[in-house]
Amino acid sequence: MCGIVGYIGKQTAIPILVEGLKKLEYRGYDSAGVAVLDQDGIFVCKSVGKLVALEDKLGDEYPSTSMGIGHTRWATHGRPSDLNAHPHSDCAGDFAVVHNGIIENYMELREWLVEQGHRLVSETDTEVLPHLVEHFYQGDLVTAVRKVLGKIRGAFAMVVLSRSDPDKLVAVRQDSPLVVGLGDGEFFVASDIPAILNHTRKTYILADGEMVILTRNRAEVTDFQGNPLEKDVFEVKWDAVAAEKGGYEHFMLKEIHEQPRAIRDTLLGRLSEYGVELQEVDLTAEEVNHFRKVFIVACGTAWHAGLVGKSLIERWARIPVEVDIASEFRYRSPLIDQETLVVVISQSGETADTLAALREAKRLGAHVVAVTNVVGSSVSREAHDVIYTWAGPEIAVASTKAYTTQLVGMVLFGLYLAQAKGTLSLEKIQAIVTALKELPGQAQEVLHRAAVIEKLAKSFVKVEDTFFIGRGLDWAVAMEGSLKLKEISYIHAEAYAAGELKHGTLALITEETPVIGIATQMDVYEKTLSNIKEVKARDAKVIGIAFEGNNDIHKSVDEVIYLPKTVSELAPILTVIPLQLLAYYASVARGCDVDKPRNLAKSVTVE
Ligand code: M6R
Repeated sequence: MCGIVGYIGKQTAIPILVEGLKKLEYRGYDSAGVAVLDQDGIFVCKSVGKLVALEDKLGDEYPSTSMGIGHTRWATHGRPSDLNAHPHSDCAGDFAVVHNGIIENYMELREWLVEQGHRLVSETDTEVLPHLVEHFYQGDLVTAVRKVLGKIRGAFAMVVLSRSDPDKLVAVRQDSPLVVGLGDGEFFVASDIPAILNHTRKTYILADGEMVILTRNRAEVTDFQGNPLEKDVFEVKWDAVAAEKGGYEHFMLKEIHEQPRAIRDTLLGRLSEYGVELQEVDLTAEEVNHFRKVFIVACGTAWHAGLVGKSLIERWARIPVEVDIASEFRYRSPLIDQETLVVVISQSGETADTLAALREAKRLGAHVVAVTNVVGSSVSREAHDVIYTWAGPEIAVASTKAYTTQLVGMVLFGLYLAQAKGTLSLEKIQAIVTALKELPGQAQEVLHRAAVIEKLAKSFVKVEDTFFIGRGLDWAVAMEGSLKLKEISYIHAEAYAAGELKHGTLALITEETPVIGIATQMDVYEKTLSNIKEVKARDAKVIGIAFEGNNDIHKSVDEVIYLPKTVSELAPILTVIPLQLLAYYASVARGCDVDKPRNLAKSVTVE
């Protein structure tokens, strides 16, 4: 997830671009850059670090021309650096491109371009774009861009600037957002509305498969084939702060709603008809077979993702797994040697305890794989292999889209290990791959139940204690659900293995303690149902979570949230969404500070 902006009009472009990028910094902030058309060609300025670093580099002595493009980056391919920052250029410096998304087939395109004599200098997938434009350009920028579109696969929004077409910007969208702003003799294009709000409120949103050609007089929209399209212009009514949250009241709610996209991006390019392809993990089948034990080490929500990971790896790859809280791990003399695989999970990649655990594991000779969301983070730099979760920046302290994408990461890695060990049949792998492809749409379906959950959450205003119960993977998700509720609504919540309640905790169940009973694991469904009946018999108000079709649950609970059916192993990715929404709406109903809960920080970089 990056932020892109383009401007063509009558004012000096650079201040407008930089101001637009500031509004998009929530989308990425590891490096930034601008390109404007100058008399001598294309002037490009870029810098690693936050936008202020770019501003410092630009100083006051920049070209005053009135058309350009800008980018604030959240690294995907290639670590944050000046060289990897956008805009990217072709060999001759005739074109500049900013891009948001992932070009899935960039490796093959890169090889092909090199064979054609192009010199690519960065580690990014984006850099193939200006070189492809250069390759196809025969006097018309729009035609060249269309030809490029016929070559690339993946998710992208891009804006192209050409030295030879000095009065034109071309922007396209496929699975990455792009809005067009209509001013008076000037046009804007950006990843999100806040970037243009200081200049115009008249806008339209490009749909997938659409292209806009901006000149100083008009904005012409076509499909990728060149057929003209009419767009409905609308007037933005939100203020700038609301717009940064995409119209949502809080970042957390926005991030909850981003999950279908985040799950899709994390799967992108990693599934094939034969299973999983994790090009970033450099382990041979022999090396995988050499591992006798796996440790998964993480903190908080990431630790909860690790609990799911344990179950998947043991079930699929038949390797014993221990899950450790990072702050405990290195002080308990873990039994690690060269036959140990350690998986660290961290959204930020900077959590001090997780980083220390990683270093300890390496010191003891383990092979370390990191699952992280931040390219260039300490964890990503120090691990032997990295599986990135393409959730995009997570701003709210309560982790949501990072968790679901960590679960996707663990599913992918579990399958990867199983493939290498030959412990799963092709049929089973294909069934999971098919189910994975359906997940983004199913996550969207769950989000459609938000209004029902909001209503349920209102009954939590006065609640002091609550319990989340489930068995197996449902128990792991119960832990995440209870953490969400605790951290943002300050309600005491506990997660229990449903079968363990009667060994003590049942004494705490009264009509004052709502219970969330999760029953998606079909092998223990009947048993979970019995445990739900046990709490119901103690007068607890029970909210059940189950797959569509398991209609008998409604007889044992007060309310049911039904989820679209998926394979049991993927259920946590959907089950957690109503729990996130419940915590969110309970927090709002109790008047808490949702995005910045008391006493907590987004990234814990101290021990
Ligand atoms: O950046 P990390 O994933 O390493 O962070 C780990 C925890 O601090 C984090 O998941 C924390 O538990 C969240 N605030 C929970 O919502």
